[in-house]
Amino acid sequence: MRDAQPIGGMYQLTSSFVAPYPVRPVLLYCASTPELVDMFKRVAPALAYGSVIVFMTPDGLPTENDIFTDISFRYWNPPGLQGKERCWIKASSDGGCGSHLLYLLAAVKATVGPVLELGCGDSSTPALHEEVALAGRKLVSIDNNKTWLEKFESVERGLNHTFVFESDPAESVWLNECWSVAFVDHAPGESRRKAVERLRDRAEFIVVHDTEDCGYAIKSTLASFPHRRNCRFMRPWTSILSMTRPIDLDGLPGDGQ
Ligand SMILES: C[S@@+](CC[C@H](N)C(=O)[O-])C[C@H]1O[C@@H](n2cnc3c(N)ncnc32)[C@H](O)[C@@H]1O
Repeated sequence: MRDAQPIGGMYQLTSSFVAPYPVRPVLLYCASTPELVDMFKRVAPALAYGSVIVFMTPDGLPTENDIFTDISFRYWNPPGLQGKERCWIKASSDGGCGSHLLYLLAAVKATVGPVLELGCGDSSTPALHEEVALAGRKLVSIDNNKTWLEKFESVERGLNHTFVFESDPAESVWLNECWSVAFVDHAPGESRRKAVERLRDRAEFIVVHDTEDCGYAIKSTLASFPHRRNCRFMRPWTSILSMTRPIDLDGLPGDGQ
């Protein structure tokens, strides 16, 4: 919930409300007439994770759970609500293993050279194989788990796609090479910071997953990049870093904090 700031603005839900695009978290106030509740149900799917809706006079609401259950909103009771106000937040916690994919592929599409993947899985490996290796670009995937490597090696291996076992992917000699995109999502998570440091001047873009995880002690490393974009609209968060290139990924939401 700590990213639930209305950085996209505050709106009264009225017939003139149009979700801003690119969508950023917004704070909506809404009277609970049936018409406005109906309108809210229509705009809710387009709202960014972290958006908050405050119903001001909820007596007239039908069962709130019926309204919110299917659209990722959770009841939230922050201090400062007035009178009968009730507050719901679009919970930004359901991106799962693949919450990085939109950003990873945007970085890939913004470049033309080789791609390094640290940490294989059902979200990133097949997508990178298709977008990178099958497009004739070099792709190297490194993992510390032979079972996961073998799973992908048997179906995804090809002329441009190399799979490498390394007990700690952050120690691999492949990190001495230059990359258009380096994707950091491996185990052990504690060595992700080391991987990012080694890749700092060798990758045009570094895409790092799980960047809200304080256990990985990566916050100061992220902050040291002159170009960075934190994508916190879906958990787990993803960060895109670059020493050389401003990060403008086709209007995808994200901030530089
Ligand atoms: C966070 S996962 C990597 C996920 C991967 N980059 C993706 O986007 O699908 C880190 C490591 O856990 C293992 N792994 C991958 N997918 C997994 C899964 N669904 N469940 C458990 N472990 C997984 C692999 O060894 C992988 O390197």
